[in-house]
Amino acid sequence: MRSALLEHIGRLTDDDLPAYVYDLPELREHLHAIRTALPKRVELLYAAKANSDPRILRTLAEHVDGFEVASGGELSHVRGLVPDAQIAFGGPGKTEKELARALDAGVQRLHIESEQELRLVAALLGHRSVDVLLRVNLPVVLGRVALAMGGHPSPFGMDPARLDRCLEVIASAPRLRLRGLHFHLASGLGERPHLALTDEILTWAEDWAHHRAVDLTEVNVGGGMGVDYTHPRRKFDWRAFGAGLRPLLARHPRLTLRIEPGRSVTAYCGWYVTQVLDIKFSRGHAFAVLRGGTHHLRTPAAKQHDQPFEVIPDDRWARPWQRPEACDEPVTLVGQLCTPKDVLARGAMVERLRVGDRVAFAMAGAYAWNISHHAFLMHPHPTFHHVDDAESPASGGYARQPS
Ligand SMILES: Cc1ncc(COP(=O)(O)O)c(C=O)c1O
Repeated sequence: MRSALLEHIGRLTDDDLPAYVYDLPELREHLHAIRTALPKRVELLYAAKANSDPRILRTLAEHVDGFEVASGGELSHVRGLVPDAQIAFGGPGKTEKELARALDAGVQRLHIESEQELRLVAALLGHRSVDVLLRVNLPVVLGRVALAMGGHPSPFGMDPARLDRCLEVIASAPRLRLRGLHFHLASGLGERPHLALTDEILTWAEDWAHHRAVDLTEVNVGGGMGVDYTHPRRKFDWRAFGAGLRPLLARHPRLTLRIEPGRSVTAYCGWYVTQVLDIKFSRGHAFAVLRGGTHHLRTPAAKQHDQPFEVIPDDRWARPWQRPEACDEPVTLVGQLCTPKDVLARGAMVERLRVGDRVAFAMAGAYAWNISHHAFLMHPHPTFHHVDDAESPASGGYARQPS
């Protein structure tokens, strides 16, 4: 953990905990590295579902070409925060109201999930026009990935054979402009598998367009760049990815390639900081019970991994009895919920962990607070802080979100 962040965490009071701390300089630096690695012809959207924290979105807006939103709520939220940002509206199960709102808001792209959805849009258009991308579920072999949205029967996108019906709808509705195709087939891909998949997608897309005389200008290959929670330092290799994209793009000179990653962009800038309430031993196994838990940070429960963490020792101890501790042994870090599923890390080796020490969970900037079941057991919500080296220490917002 960098020292400015550690200092900030040191200034948090016990009452501030649990706390989410977002490291905005880290986010800027990471984004700069991503941008620098990508060829100019690649447009970078951020998938807002990963983390739609307002200050994160405003920070991102300086570096990305736009945002991918997947609900009317995300659409209003992003529009309200960054009114001039380009928006692509995707996701399954869009309601008629959401589609109408997207058309009213003038979203730059609609990612169409089905013929039914396309017909709804055509019926809603009136005098308006909209650029659409048809989402395709390609029959690719994905191998081992964290989450597969395509390549097998799935509710996401359309089988290739169904696209021709969409072309008929588009032919009869001139205000529907077919810009290209959209694919988000998997999450958790390393740079090599992602490049191989992108290659397969681009080749298929050009071939499909050629056989149907479609003027294809854009292909969005989605997000899904892998994040390895077991090796926090081993990040998706954006330089290798960017370098690998160059020859692919050279083979498809007319296409604009879009990507819309979420997890790989914001995971690293977030920390969930909490405190040890109790250390217990059960049949020889050490458990640290922490304030908070998976109702604040659901990521390890959702993905079935151990969340990486750092212990921040706190030497204050004013009780007249011996401070409970675990030393040089594996400890399972659990939360306050009455369920055995409330586990943040299993059997993690610690040098020393005592009641009152702080624990900072890393990689908590994506699919963390926003996917958690906040209401379960009615514990207080965490407080939220943004560390920004450009600002005075007092500027990190200390608001506790309403329970
Ligand atoms: C359509 C679409 N695009 C982008 C993303 C972002 O994926 P990731 O956060 O794995 O990069 C998702 C995630 O579910 C998605 O469904």
